[in-house]
Order: sequence, then C-alpha cells, then structure tokens
Amino acid sequence: MNVLAGDHWKAENYAKHAHFVAKLTSEVLQDLKPEMGEHILDLGCGDGALAKDLQLRGCRVVGLDNSRELLSIAQRKGIKTILGDAQKMAFNDEFDAVFSNAAMHWMPLQSELASRVYRSLKQGGRFVGEMGGAGNIQTLIQALKEVLPRFGLDFASRNPWTFPTVQQQRDTLEKAGFQVKKCTLRQRPTKLPTDIRGWFLTFGQTWLSDLDPETCEKFFDELVEICHPLLCNSAGEWMVDYVRLNFVALK
Ligand code: BEZ
Repeated sequence: MNVLAGDHWKAENYAKHAHFVAKLTSEVLQDLKPEMGEHILDLGCGDGALAKDLQLRGCRVVGLDNSRELLSIAQRKGIKTILGDAQKMAFNDEFDAVFSNAAMHWMPLQSELASRVYRSLKQGGRFVGEMGGAGNIQTLIQALKEVLPRFGLDFASRNPWTFPTVQQQRDTLEKAGFQVKKCTLRQRPTKLPTDIRGWFLTFGQTWLSDLDPETCEKFFDELVEICHPLLCNSAGEWMVDYVRLNFVALK
C-alpha cells in the first residue's frame, strides 16, 4: 500500500483541529492582491475557506485538491472544484494568478509542480504562496523520529512533507521560468485550537493509518511526553514552531 498517495483527510478533524490554517493568511493575501474578475486557481484549496474569500472579492476561483472529502465541503460553499494532484495538472495560459496556502509542503515534486503552475498562468500572471519552510515543526519532527521506531515505523519512508529553504525555493521557481519577486522565511509560532493529539490526528495519518486504536493511544502518550515540556505553556496552550516560506513569482 502506498500510504503517501492516499486521501487521509477527514473533514471533521480538519474543522476541529485546523481551522486556524485559513485565518493566519494576512501576508499571503496581501501578496496576492486579488482583483475583481481575476481568474484564480487555489492550489490545494482544502475545504475552500480561502477560495470563498477570493470569490467574495469578485474573483473567478477554481479550487484544486486531491481530497474528495475536503472538496465536498468547498463545493457546498459554492466553489468550482477539481479533484486531482497539482503535480500532474495540465492547464495552459488559463489563470491570472495561482495561489496556494499551507498546501505545497505536501507535494514532493516541487520542480514538476512549479513547471506546471508556470504553464497554467497567462503571460504576466503571478504565483503567490505560503508553505512550511526549512525548520518548520522541527520539535514535532524530532519527537516523531524518536517515537515512531518504537512502534516499528520509520519517519523517512513515510514523511509526506517538503520544507524548502529560501535558496531552494528560488532555484525551483527560477528553473521553471519564473521571475522571483519575493521569497522569505519567518518563524510563526502557532497556537493550536486543541492540542498536539488533535494536530496529529489531522495531519499525521501517513503514519497512524497502520496502528490499531489502542496502539495509537500509546503512540500519542509517548509523543505528548516528549512534546509537552517543549510546546505546551503553563496555561495548557500548545504552540507549534511553524516556519513560513512566502513567495511571489511572475511569469
Ligand atoms: C504546515 O502548515 O506547516 C503544516 C501543516 C500540517 C503538516 C505539516 C506542516
């Protein structure tokens, strides 16, 4: 079974544990500067929260995602959606902008993706995004590398995430033909709406899918034991060490 290729997204978990994702978007939306009537592709649109925001600003938005479950929520919001893998998309000169928030770090084929985005844009079109960058969720990753082997699981073989450095992202964009206008990395410690267990239930399914419920509980106990002193404050709030990579690139 290729666990990396499956659709692990559960809309219920996403709504409960990850609704902050569509709220912390001031920088990427400012960079996008959406204008009325523009044809915009939301790459990895998930449940369509940001696509809806763009639609309300008068843009013609298409949401692309590989999760059938999350797309069904986007459709209920009135978003036109396409089910598919962005790394294989085949649009030509269609969009004024391609926009992506917190999705591209799930796509290992970054060069392929950048080339396909380039092709999908009209001349002068822009590719504007925010994703996890180098150092993102480092504490969690260290904890996972420690705990997973105790359960017979290996971090690397199932790691679904790619967190580029600024230089790597610039190179990827330039090789695809883009002129890079902005590429920055910043720390953004992020308060979780629930806790690390909820975060992992939502985002860590590539590893969890093989564990029975009882083993899963044990796994969480061990993960919490390591992460609690590092990520949970005295008020019981979990702050995760997110690092954001923001970029603007022109065709
Ligand atoms: C992120 O937004 O940085 C992220 C979210 C879930 C899993 C990994 C990274």
